Amino acid sequence: MRLGLLTGGGDCPGLNAAIRAVVRVATREGDEVVGFHHGWRGVVGDEASPLTWEMTWGILGSGGTILRTARYHPHEHAGGLDAVGRAVRREKLDALVVVGGDGTLGAGARVAACGIPVVGIPKTIDNDVPGTTRCIGFDTAVGIAAEAIDRLETTGESHDRLMVAEVMGRATGWLAVEAGVAGGANALCLPEVPTDLSALASAIVERHGAGTTSSVIVVAEGAVLVADGEPVAGPRGTAVADALAERTGYETRLTVLGHVQRGGPPSAYDRFLATEYGVAAVGAVHAGADAHLLSIGADGTELVPLDVTGAGPRPVPASLLDLVDKVTLG
Ligand code: F6P
Repeated sequence: MRLGLLTGGGDCPGLNAAIRAVVRVATREGDEVVGFHHGWRGVVGDEASPLTWEMTWGILGSGGTILRTARYHPHEHAGGLDAVGRAVRREKLDALVVVGGDGTLGAGARVAACGIPVVGIPKTIDNDVPGTTRCIGFDTAVGIAAEAIDRLETTGESHDRLMVAEVMGRATGWLAVEAGVAGGANALCLPEVPTDLSALASAIVERHGAGTTSSVIVVAEGAVLVADGEPVAGPRGTAVADALAERTGYETRLTVLGHVQRGGPPSAYDRFLATEYGVAAVGAVHAGADAHLLSIGADGTELVPLDVTGAGPRPVPASLLDLVDKVTLG
């Protein structure tokens, strides 16, 4: 068989581990793999080259993606889906393996609807691809953010400050929840539940009244904030830090973790997960999967319909939000 492989959307740690697994397993089984550079943009723009076993040496633990990536969806450009079809015919491909978040995979579902077999591998530090439970890159980002929270806690304690940490997570609060709980944050501001800044300030004042002199507040970049009954606009970390400083009178510092959460080497778990997904993707193509997405179930990888990506980002469930309430100021 001939497989096309691409990584699309924001990069994350573990993409190279997935590429390595797909290329090694496919070539071992006699397949050829064509890599498209810069995600779907490279499919449409004819940026293709063969991927060989030798190219996968030494990439298991490296960050980024040797295939490069881009935020580009063919169905949003005139003639984009036709161009994908031409590329698949030109390269004589039997299927595409697409590593992406909900945007890249959603484009994959549209390509599959045109009759091109597509198997998707979920990746994003936001961990919010619908139909899946664990995305490549998330574990690494949680580790980076949790370590940052630990570090903010000791400097905050030393200076009797409020330390506000903004983490990524545009539409969902997975990263804020897992890193915040693992790092022992005192409060979380999430996209899933509006945070009333007056109530948060009062809760912090009460906590400090009980003897504490510092607190760490983790804010997802897509957190929903309200103050005095009105929605609060602007960058979320800044909004929370400014409001808390004003309403509590406590010295406050803001740290925006940004792309540090997405760069660098993948955790051991992300290397394993990416390998598991890569191996399963080749198996799925061989078994005739044509519009499917890989997920992790109780017994390892499983396939779900690719069009589940149309459901939009997967929010943090109520059970986890309840857990957050129990271990933070609420
Ligand atoms: O890939 C997901 C993500 O890291 C989000 O958490 C974040 O909002 C966004 O990408 C940032 O995108 P960019 O790198 O294009 O600024």
